[in-house]
Amino acid sequence: PDLKFVTLTCSLRTGSVNAIIANTLPELAPEGVSFTPLGSPGEFPHYSSDTEAAGFPEEVLAMAESIIQADGLIIITPEYNHSIPGVLKNALDWLSRVSPQPIAGKPVLIQSASPGKLGGVRAQIHLRQILGYFDARIMNKPEAIIGDVSVKISGNRLTDENTRAFLARQLTAFTEFSAK
Ligand code: FNR
Repeated sequence: PDLKFVTLTCSLRTGSVNAIIANTLPELAPEGVSFTPLGSPGEFPHYSSDTEAAGFPEEVLAMAESIIQADGLIIITPEYNHSIPGVLKNALDWLSRVSPQPIAGKPVLIQSASPGKLGGVRAQIHLRQILGYFDARIMNKPEAIIGDVSVKISGNRLTDENTRAFLARQLTAFTEFSAK
């Protein structure tokens, strides 16, 4: 099926390994699937109800609209101190305030990568808990937890064949999941 996915990369770092994963997804996806990167969550101000009362930042409304228009949302995130990065939590706090709710009922796929062995699994567990409160339609399996990522990338691409094959299978599953 022709499906449009949006990707949210949650590292602000130049050379981010998670951005490299996001960059490689179009190579691994089934035919007809497109990927559009969302804006950087780093452009959102820190959430405050004072700021909200003064009017939603344009970046927040633009991201919310892009998610609403998409068939699925893919979140690719590092793990910081056994949880999600603050910039992702801030983005979710903003998006939770937007009406109509962009993430409620939306198919969501989570991916994480780390040079460590555990690949960001603890961040994924926290993220699933948070997204549960949004009533997101999270795909639970297969899970993409990419450990030892430093030896699996080259330049701006994921090159490890096993990981590429696995992500291709996951994207096929997410395409079927989102089409339902
Ligand atoms: C990390 N890192 C890290 N890695 C991990 O597997 N579990 C963790 O809890 C943490 N905690 C953590 C905290 C902070 C503040 C930093 C800066 C880093 C290491 C992290 O996985 C590594 O820096 C990755 O390269 C970050 O992903 P990006 O930015 O390359 O996509």
